[in-house]
Amino acid sequence: MRKNMVSHESNGYKIIVVDDEQGIVDSLSIFLRRSGYDFTGVTNPLEAIEKVKNEHFDLMILDFMMDPIHGDEVVEQIRKFNKELYILLLTGHKDLAPPLETIKKLDIQGYCEKSDKFDQLLLLIESGIKSIEQMHTIKQINEELKDKNDELEKAYLDTIGILRYTVEAKDPYTRGHSDRVSEYSVLLGQKLSLDDKTLHILKIGGLFHDIGKIGIPDSILLKDSKLNDEEYSQIKNHPTIGAHMLGDADIFKDIIPVVKHHHERFDGKGYPSRLEGANIPLVARIAAVADTFDAMTSKRTYRNSLPIDVVKAEIERCSGSQFDPEIAKVFLDILNNEYNKILEIQEKYN
Ligand SMILES: [Fe+2]
Ligand SMILES: [Fe+2]
Repeated sequence: MRKNMVSHESNGYKIIVVDDEQGIVDSLSIFLRRSGYDFTGVTNPLEAIEKVKNEHFDLMILDFMMDPIHGDEVVEQIRKFNKELYILLLTGHKDLAPPLETIKKLDIQGYCEKSDKFDQLLLLIESGIKSIEQMHTIKQINEELKDKNDELEKAYLDTIGILRYTVEAKDPYTRGHSDRVSEYSVLLGQKLSLDDKTLHILKIGGLFHDIGKIGIPDSILLKDSKLNDEEYSQIKNHPTIGAHMLGDADIFKDIIPVVKHHHERFDGKGYPSRLEGANIPLVARIAAVADTFDAMTSKRTYRNSLPIDVVKAEIERCSGSQFDPEIAKVFLDILNNEYNKILEIQEKYN
């Protein structure tokens, strides 16, 4: 039961005492209020669990032998929804105290035997409060760091957005292309069960893979008719230009493999580095399939988009020469069984 006692200057920390002996609750109430704590006393352990669910407490002082449930069960229940509450177990009879194993397992921070004097308990409470203060500080620092990280991440994505739109503004035929390549790549990455970090690289790398086209003269980039050899070799510089553009910025270093190597071929006949097979970074092998697929399924000035059956046959034909066969197979599986996902992406960015 909660008793209203004479109020003392509060230190702001809230303590809940759970003991089925009203006498203990009463004496702790006087003692703890006098020491400056905000006190709540409960004699029913089930009520204590409910209170912790609905109110904030910094510390709990808990009796062990209680009805209808013992202190260890109270802790077990509370730990299911609250891992932060600092819990001190108060044991009445030495022989009936829970084994140390239980105390450790339940994440009880300390225990002490009941006695008439509360000196030992007060020391435990004070050191508990110090730990709680440190926990608060660490939590606060963590939150601040997370906020800073979120800000950096946002600035990074904004920068990518601006640079990317610069390319797309130059070349209307690539509009939507990077978005689609990004999404197809992530879809492939998911099917290949890649981790979140790699999926993120695929996402951002896809958005950015053709950024080097900024460095290609408009007369070539926007040419309607077929390119001559010299012009084609200039276009082929875009992966190297892109990688060079991003090379000095630490935040972009993870996506450079996508930018630089998305035109490598599995048989080693691609560009710019003529890398072969597994020497081509996995993210670039994935982006290569996504990129070529999007080129084939987009309308160009000189041709319509190709029918999906032709596209599938082409991916099949190029599996093992242009494409990593494993990735080509997974992509064909997507085209055969989850084509709606591809259509959704195309609709979103057309
Ligand atoms: Fe490209
Ligand atoms: Fe591309």
